[in-house]
Amino acid sequence: MTLKELHLLNYKNIADAHLHFADRLNGLVGLNGQGKTNILDAIYLLSFTKSAFSAQDRDCIRHGEQMAMVQGVYEKDGEPLTVSCGLKQGGKKQFRRGDKHYQRLSDHIGLLPLVLISPQDIGIVLDGSEVRRKFIDGTVSQYDPAYLPALNSYSQLLQQRNALLKQLAENETGAAAFEDVLSVYEQQMQPLAQKIYEARRLFVNRFAPFFTDTYTILSAGSEEVCITYQSQLAERSLPEAWEQTRRRDLILGWTSVGCHKDDLLFTIGGYAVKQVASQGQIKTCLLALRLAQALFLSDRTKQPPLLLLDDIFDRLDSRRVKRLIEMVSSERIELPTAQVVLNTPFSQIFLTDTDRHHILRYDEAFAAMKTFVVSEGTVTEDN
Ligand SMILES: Nc1ncnc2c1ncn2[C@@H]1O[C@H](COP(=O)(O)OP(=O)(O)O)[C@@H](O)[C@H]1O
Ligand SMILES: [Mg+2]
Repeated sequence: MTLKELHLLNYKNIADAHLHFADRLNGLVGLNGQGKTNILDAIYLLSFTKSAFSAQDRDCIRHGEQMAMVQGVYEKDGEPLTVSCGLKQGGKKQFRRGDKHYQRLSDHIGLLPLVLISPQDIGIVLDGSEVRRKFIDGTVSQYDPAYLPALNSYSQLLQQRNALLKQLAENETGAAAFEDVLSVYEQQMQPLAQKIYEARRLFVNRFAPFFTDTYTILSAGSEEVCITYQSQLAERSLPEAWEQTRRRDLILGWTSVGCHKDDLLFTIGGYAVKQVASQGQIKTCLLALRLAQALFLSDRTKQPPLLLLDDIFDRLDSRRVKRLIEMVSSERIELPTAQVVLNTPFSQIFLTDTDRHHILRYDEAFAAMKTFVVSEGTVTEDN
């Protein structure tokens, strides 16, 4: 799958752009704050139906404008495919594949697999568990079509259960009468939680060796990293857990046990990365995590994902950058622990940098490369 063309109209600070991309490597060059990341974000939006960075669609519309448009022309399985997204102030988002509107936006996820590596990723190691669940969800949903609907239903029911618990916590006298309603929510949530737990467990089991192998390649084997899935549901089933925690939940006013509490643990040499790793090791860990995500999806879906690398070069030492470029440009990658061999797992790459010389250095590694200069929201192809 390749992104051939991108049309942007009023997307963040890009007023109007019409870009024709190279099949292998595309570099976006410009000073800080010019719109490079915004272009990657528009590509991300076409895969995930929403921005990677802005929680509200309206923040993606160029200030002072009423609407924004993002359109991508892809080549997928040898056929052209147009995907577009229209955003309107105060209006509903219009997302189309060809000329068809989607009934449910979640049906689109997975059609155009994509992995974004951005400076914000640091949160995966340092922030709370929500970001790590988002990482799992963002990967599993790209190959398992049943996953996102289950997750969305679970989250909705969880919100309802929490709202009721909160109400009951504030007004204790009526609690007994509502226990039946609580158990109705629980009965509906149980099979969904089980499905989510199983999908996450299988994913992490299969993914862990991809991560270890990728880290080994990037660090030339100098450290051993590991990733493990942590879930309350590993020890007991949800009905069992809720039986024990319902009284506590009624006092707390929210649901304290469930797959919304799952987490991932990263270790290096047997210790938690968060506690012991150096800045450089954390960066390598994140890079390995995302590249492994791309390799995993490539293997799983037999469709190499688009790879977006946002400002990664200024944060890594030159040897690691060299290994990274060798890895993403290579036609064959062998992962010994995962026991897979992948052919051209990174097919099309988009990268940003403030220094065009950084990007031009990699010219020889890729057969087809284009650079674009981004300045104050205007994009021009560099010849
Ligand atoms: N909705 C918007 N309308 C206009 N400008 C925006 C909007 N959202 C973000 N921007 C601007 O985009 C610029 C940041 O662009 P970005 O792509 O992050 O830059 P960089 O080239 O450093 O990656 C900032 O100047 C910001 O003010
Ligand atoms: Mg940027």
